[in-house]
Amino acid sequence: MIVSPSFLSCDFANLQSEIEMLNNSDAQWMHCDIMDGLFVPNITFGQPVLKWIRKHAKKTLDVHLMIVQPERYLQSFKDAGADILTVQYEACTHLHRTIHEIKNLGMKAGVAINPHTSVNLLEDVIADLDMVLVMSVNPGFGGQSFIEHSYEKIRKLRALANERNPKLIIQVDGGVTLENAPKLIEAGATALVAGNTVFNSENPSATIKKLADL
Ligand code: DX5
Ligand code: ZN
Repeated sequence: MIVSPSFLSCDFANLQSEIEMLNNSDAQWMHCDIMDGLFVPNITFGQPVLKWIRKHAKKTLDVHLMIVQPERYLQSFKDAGADILTVQYEACTHLHRTIHEIKNLGMKAGVAINPHTSVNLLEDVIADLDMVLVMSVNPGFGGQSFIEHSYEKIRKLRALANERNPKLIIQVDGGVTLENAPKLIEAGATALVAGNTVFNSENPSATIKKLADL
C-alpha cells in the first residue's frame, strides 16, 4: 500500500524533523497540499516552501493542487520538485490539455474529484492518467470526517480503471483512519493520504507502518 502522509497536519515549525521522520518511515510518498484561498477557503504554502521540502525529502513528492487555474503553475511546481502533480477536476477548463502538459514536463499526472463530482466524468480522460484522487472530504482542511459515499465511488472507479487503465493508481484523501483503511483497500484504493491520523498519533512512524502493512 502506498502511504502518502500529508504535511497539512505536521508541525511546520519543525518541518525538517517531520521530513526526516518521513524519510525514515515506511511512507513511499509525501503529500503536499497546496491551497490558494479561492478554490478552497484555506491558504497553505507554495513553491518556495516546496523547494525546501524537496531539498530534504528522499521520497516522491505527491503534490495536490487545490487552486484555481492550475495550468498557470505546472512548470513552476515541476521546478520546485513535484514528482506527481494532481489538479482538481473542478478547477480545469481544458483538463485534457493540462494532463498532457503535466506529463510532458516529466511528472506523473493525477486528477482529483470532489465529493460531488461523479466518477463517470472521468471516462474520456482516465486512459491518460497515472492517478485519480478521490476526495473523501470537501477539500480545505485536515481532520474532517470521512464521507461514507466515497466507498461506492472508489468501487465504480476501480471498475472503470479495470476496463480502460488497469495500472491507474487510485488515491483516497480525507478522513482516512486505521479503521476505514482496510475497507478502502478492499474497494480498490491503492494509495492512501493521511494527515491527522499520522501526525496526531502518538507514534507517527508506527502509524505509517500499520497503514503500509495493510
Ligand atoms: C484536504 C487535503 C488533505 C488533508 C487530509 O483538503 O487535501 O490532503 O491533508 O487530511 P486528513 O487526513 O486529516 O483528513
Ligand atoms: Zn490532499
